[in-house]
This record gives sequence, C-alpha cells and structure tokens, in this order.
Amino acid sequence: MPIKYLEDSPSHYWKSHRAYRNNFYQCSHLCDIGQENFQRKVVEVLQKMDSLKILGIGSGKGELDCVNIRRMLTHFSHIDNTVVEPSIEAIQAYKSLISQRSPEHVTSLWHKETFQQYWRRRQSIGATNKFHFISAVHSLYYADKDGKSLGYLIDLLEKDGVMFIVIQNENSGLINLFSEFAEYFRHHPNNPSKLHTTSKVLKYLNEDGRVAHEVIRGRHQIDITSCFESESSEGSLTLDFLTNVIDFKSTVSSDILQLFLNYMKTPNCSEILSDGRIIFQEKWDAVIVRRK
Ligand SMILES: C[S@@+](CC[C@H](N)C(=O)[O-])C[C@H]1O[C@@H](n2cnc3c(N)ncnc32)[C@H](O)[C@@H]1O
Repeated sequence: MPIKYLEDSPSHYWKSHRAYRNNFYQCSHLCDIGQENFQRKVVEVLQKMDSLKILGIGSGKGELDCVNIRRMLTHFSHIDNTVVEPSIEAIQAYKSLISQRSPEHVTSLWHKETFQQYWRRRQSIGATNKFHFISAVHSLYYADKDGKSLGYLIDLLEKDGVMFIVIQNENSGLINLFSEFAEYFRHHPNNPSKLHTTSKVLKYLNEDGRVAHEVIRGRHQIDITSCFESESSEGSLTLDFLTNVIDFKSTVSSDILQLFLNYMKTPNCSEILSDGRIIFQEKWDAVIVRRK
C-alpha cells in the first residue's frame, strides 16, 4: 500500500495527535518549561515596552502559546500576536482558546500558511517588520525543510529579541526509532537524516553567530501499551502520530510492523513498568535564543 503521510491529511493529523496526547503519562503541560523558567529566561529578558510583537510558527491549537502569552501579559500591557499555521482546524481552535483566555489585551493576525509561504510572501511585498518574541514549538521539523528557515527566523528577531524553540533531542526514543528504521523512512518527510534535533539546531546557531542560546532539557512520557493491542484504534492512531504515517499498521508489511513494535519496547525507546505498561521516552529540549 502506498505510504501517505500525516501532512497530507490535517484531519487525520489532529485525530492522531489527540490520541497521542490522551496517552500522556506523567506530564504537566506539553513542552512547558515552567512558570519560573519562562519568567526569568524569557519574559524578564525582553525589554519593557507598551506593546510586544510576537510570532508563532506552527502554533497548532495554541495551547502552549496561550499559556506563554498569559505569562507575558504580566509584564506587557498589550501583545500583537502573529500566527503562521497551515492547518485551519488548528487556527480555529487557537482563536477560540485565545478569545476565552486573554481577549482584551491581545491583537492577533492569522496566517493560514506554511512558514515557507509566509517568508516568500514577505519577500514579495518587501515586509521589514520584526518581532520581539518568536515561538517554534515542535514545528521546525516541518518549517525548516530546506535548512534555511532558522536563519530567516533569526532575521525576523529584533535586537535583544528572544526565540523559543522546542525540538527533539538526538537521544529521544523517537529519533532512535527513526534512525533504526532509516531505510524504511528514506522517503519520509521527517527522514531522520533531515530531521532537526537539538545538536543540529545548536550547530546552526553557533555558525550563524548572531545569537546567544541556552538549553533546557525536558521529556515526554507516552503510554504506548495500546499500540501493541491489535484491536485498539487509539493505539493505531498513536502509532500514526509517532511515525507520521497515515494508517501505519496497514501500510507496512507485517514483518516490518513486528520489528518496529519490538524495537519500540527496547530501552532505546521505552521503559517497561512493573505492571507491564510500556512508556515511550521522548526527550525534547527548549532552546532559548537571544538575538545579540
Ligand atoms: C507537532 S505540532 C506542534 C503544535 C504546537 N506548537 C504545540 O506544541 O502544541 C506541529 C505544527 O506545525 C504545523 N506545521 C506543519 N507544517 C508547517 C510549516 N511548513 N510551517 C509552519 N507550521 C507548520 C502543523 O500544522 C502543526 O500545527
């Protein structure tokens, strides 16, 4: 069966994302570095001004962006929030969330497009506006396919502006899984050789030289036990999200599926609890970047 990727179907993407999120094990908030860290390392670093200009790249449904916006509103009286997000379903959910949480102090501008399209459009109209804060949480894998977008994002940062990147660490279970099955994933949009990880991002930032950066380590633990239950649709969807493949279980041969599931149980990917539950270990890093 030809492989279809989640990127081809936003509705399947969000369905599988929901299943994956429902299986979170011991996790307070997805990619949250905590109130104190965010206050000290992001909010207080930003210069005081009346209106803060921020940009979200691949903000999804805005769950984390809304938390961070509320934190920033403790220091800034108004926020101009530009969102670049290709999924209409995600934008609608984000709009509804932000209207409930911070309706009066935030003006949002919605761009239903990819970062690559946004960048090209800016160039065609000669846009020069920049941002004090840019958030790219688990979206560089998609937004930086050509390896140039990180440089474009730095171009968009004001002097002393801060960028908040969240990205998989190279020791993450997901990266180990993709590397182990690199041959199978060679045409995959998230091909492991192209996939951004912390070390690739840091190498790029060091070479670029226009920014200083700091890394905060984090992890997700996902209960993937249902992925091993043949009848579980929740498990199948979780597997789709982890592999980025639509209906992964029916797409791959039964031999590959077995190898894949066996590998997912190994310590390279998971911890097995005493009650038999299999907990997938995703390691991510928040890279806090400041434009010099
Ligand atoms: C893993 S989700 C992360 C969502 C959100 N930042 C969060 O942490 O909950 C990746 C997001 O990137 C968006 N995306 C996909 N391709 C993109 C691109 N080329 N440019 C910008 N965003 C993209 C997806 O629609 C999705 O909302």
